[in-house]
Formats: sequence, C-alpha cells, structure tokens
Amino acid sequence: MRQTARFWDKVAERYAKMPIRDEAAYQKKLQATRAYFRQDMEVLEIGCGTGSTAIAHAPWVKHIHAIDFSPKMIAIARGRAKENHIGNVTFENASVEELGVPTQSLDAVLALNLLHLLDDRDETISRVHAMLKPGGIFVTSTACIGDMSMLLRIVARTGGFLGVIPLFRVFTKRELEHSLTRAGFVIDYQWRPGKNKPVFIVAKRMG
Ligand SMILES: C[S@@+](CC[C@H](N)C(=O)[O-])C[C@H]1O[C@@H](n2cnc3c(N)ncnc32)[C@H](O)[C@@H]1O
Repeated sequence: MRQTARFWDKVAERYAKMPIRDEAAYQKKLQATRAYFRQDMEVLEIGCGTGSTAIAHAPWVKHIHAIDFSPKMIAIARGRAKENHIGNVTFENASVEELGVPTQSLDAVLALNLLHLLDDRDETISRVHAMLKPGGIFVTSTACIGDMSMLLRIVARTGGFLGVIPLFRVFTKRELEHSLTRAGFVIDYQWRPGKNKPVFIVAKRMG
C-alpha cells in the first residue's frame, strides 16, 4: 500500500467521527452541485473518503461510482451505504492514478478535498476531462495553500512532514484555474466561502 494510503487508513475511524467543519458551506456546495444533476446521470467520485457526500447525492442521480485508495475509508463508506439503504452507489478501493474509465462515459466527476493531495493534479485533470461526455461537469473543492499566509503555509508544511496531516501540493487558486482551462474545461461556477477556505469550482467540458 502507498505511504499516503496508509496515512488515510490510520485516520479513517477518526475522520468518520469528525463533524463537518463548516456545515453551511458544505450544504451550499451540495446544493450548487445538485443544480447540475439529472436523474439519468452516471457520476464518479474520486477520493470519496467515508462516502458521506456520495450517499447524500445518491437520490439525485442514476449511479455513483465512488473510489478511494484507503481500504478502511471504503469499508466505512460501504457500511454507511448499507445503513442508509443506498443501492445506487458502488464503492471501490482504487487509486485515482490507476483508475481505468472509458473515454466520454461519465456525466459528472467529483473530487472534493483531493486535488491538493495528488502528486500530479494536471495529469488527473486531463484524465477526468477525457472521461467526461461533452457538457459533463467536474466538481472540485480544493485547498489552495499557495494563497495562504506564509505562517499558515509553514504550519501546514511542518504538520505534513511530522505526519500529523497528509503531505500536500502548494498552488494558488489562479494556478488551479489554469490547470482546468489548460485541460479544456470552462469554469462555470466558483465560490470560496472565505479567505483560506477551499475553493469550490464547477468546470464544464465543452466539446
Ligand atoms: C481529505 S480526504 C477527503 C474525503 C472526502 N472527499 C471528503 O471531502 O470528505 C481525502 C481522501 O482522498 C483519498 N485519496 C488521496 N489520494 C488518493 C489517490 N491518489 N487515489 C485515491 N484516493 C486518494 C484519501 O484516502 C482520503 O480518503
């Protein structure tokens, strides 16, 4: 298992019990995403964690395939889906980098609190673009640590090296926007609940 997957396995039980940090912002992001959903949609969620968001969105779409490279996260997610009698979400233990999805087969891809954790976000963004049908959407919520103060960046970096938080990539909101547009996406909606908060973006594949 990759070192980072081991980190998430170790924290999975604790992560599952953590309250949502900003409930109002979370609800607004759910609503903003659902404004794009239709009942016939095939959705992929990458880095789904304990599955709460996939389970919350399940009634609004046809099917959600949700993946995460931490086996413990996936075990918790499957348990939650069962408890909630959710039949249209399939959880899979898989890494984003190894995931094989046919081109132009999906209506929406979600990556929530994930892109800053990936070694190569540009590669993933290009692959997501290829997976989506024309008109399909890529919904992301991303910590843009490059926009934070030097002090916060040092605290975050130190935490990463000590293994208290996962290691992450540092980039700004502007750099993330460039990554998306370079891959061929058009940014359709974006919202940042506050300074230093993750940037929520809905990007659309046009042609
Ligand atoms: C910060 S958590 C976010 C979980 C969930 N999306 C949320 O918003 O609560 C990041 C998740 O991404 C997963 N993850 C990180 N890198 C990954 C990769 N390369 N492939 C698959 N999953 C990954 C971790 O295991 C973890 O569950």
